[in-house]
This record gives sequence, structure tokens and C-alpha cells, in this order.
Amino acid sequence: MTQKIMDKRHNTIVNEIVDSIRQVIIRNKVTNTELWLAIDFLNETGRSEHEMALLLQAFFESTTCVARNNESRGSAVAIEGPYFLEGAPEIAHGGEIKTLAEEDGEPIIIRGKVTDVDGKPIENVTLDVWHSTPVGTYSGVMPGIPEDHYRGKLTTDADGLYEVRTTKPVPYQIPHDGNTGKILEGLGRHAWRPAHIHFKARGEGLLEHITQVYFEGEEYVDSDCCTGVCDELVLGFTNENGVKVITKNFVLDAAA
Ligand code: DHB
Ligand code: FE
Repeated sequence: MTQKIMDKRHNTIVNEIVDSIRQVIIRNKVTNTELWLAIDFLNETGRSEHEMALLLQAFFESTTCVARNNESRGSAVAIEGPYFLEGAPEIAHGGEIKTLAEEDGEPIIIRGKVTDVDGKPIENVTLDVWHSTPVGTYSGVMPGIPEDHYRGKLTTDADGLYEVRTTKPVPYQIPHDGNTGKILEGLGRHAWRPAHIHFKARGEGLLEHITQVYFEGEEYVDSDCCTGVCDELVLGFTNENGVKVITKNFVLDAAA
């Protein structure tokens, strides 16, 4: 039964993709020669490790978030990107994410409240936080930065609150030396993402919630190469004793 429903959904989606592409070909009078250019381009993309994933993620991951945000009563979700790692170090309320002293990042505090869709605080939510180094790289996946740095696992308290200290991330340039870079360049776009902090919230009876925050007024917020920014996720800093504070609250949907 489940398999039949899955097949039906699969067939619907595949048929709609095929129909959409056929309409594009007809509207634009795409020639056989042009079709073969596209076929060769995709073939070449597939031969280069990770490039097909990068291309499809850059163009379509954010659209899955739009689809979910359109239906959800919870706060906005955003793309996960490729750099989440399971097993980040647990950090006590108000504690500090490990950062590299020599990278001299700007200290920030991230805090907020986690509630359900009726505004009731949720205790014991596991909140993974990860972000770039002060030079725009990611720990664990790029050389030289231990994977327990720039990542932490927090837990909300009885009032649904969390708080952590870390350093401010900076803009990040996705790999652009391959076909993804070529497509972006051809469209007159760059390969930069604005500075952002990733979050993944999980808890019993809750729909997994993956999102990001961006910083008001900063570079590339209006031109993210992954089109992952929505207004709700662009936040301003407040200042507390000279330290920048981001307040990111979460409204979590119940699992279906
Ligand atoms: C990519 C990297 C990120 O850190 C992110 O948030 C989104 C995409 C990437 O390299 O494709
Ligand atoms: Fe990222």
C-alpha cells in the first residue's frame, strides 16, 4: 500500500517535470543542437565529483523550504547546505562554541526561545548550531579546523530558552570552479552566500526544523547564490556590553 502511494507521488512528480521541460522547449523553440549541448553539459557535470549535487542544491534546495513554509504554522525553515555534522559537542546554557583563537573572530551571543505553534515553551529541544569560521570555511569538512569547533549542540531549558556564545560567521563562496559556477556566471550571478548561522532543532513529537539566520544590511543578503534568504530570517543585532546579540526564536510544528 505504502509502496503504491509512493509510486503514485513519484509518477506525478516525474510527469510534471517532463511536462515542464517540454513546455520550455516548445515556448523557446529549443533545437536538437541545443538539447545536445544541455545533455553534454549535464553529462560532464555528473562526471565531476559532487558537482551535480552542488548544482541541484544551489538551484532547488531553497524551493523545498518555500514549499514547506507555505504550509507550515511554524517559523521559516531554510536550506541545510552540505556541512551539517552529527555529534557536535554539547554546550551548557550560556556556554561557548569552540573557536580558533588565531582566527580572531568577533564575539557574538545567540539566544532565543523555542515554542510550539500555540506559543507554549518547549523544553529539551536539541538545537544544533553550526556556522563558518571568521574566514568563511567550515570545520570538519575543510582542512585544518577540528570538527568540534564552530559547532555545538544545545538543549532548551524549562522555559524553552537557549543561549550560546561564538564568533560571527562571514560570507561564504560556494565552489564555483565547475559547471555550477559556469551557470551562475552565465546568469550574471555570483557564487556568494551572505554570512549565516545554521540551526537544526529536534525533539520528541516535533517536525525536524532546519533553518538559518542572516544579518540585516550585510553583503549578499539580497543576492544569495542559493536563494536561501527570506525576510523572516534576516535579523538585526542588539548590543549587550559591547557584544553583538542575535535573538532567534523558533516556532516548531508538531510531527505529522
Ligand atoms: C553550500 C554551503 C553552505 O554553507 C550553505 O549554507 C549552503 C550551500 C554549498 O557549498 O553548496
Ligand atoms: Fe552554510
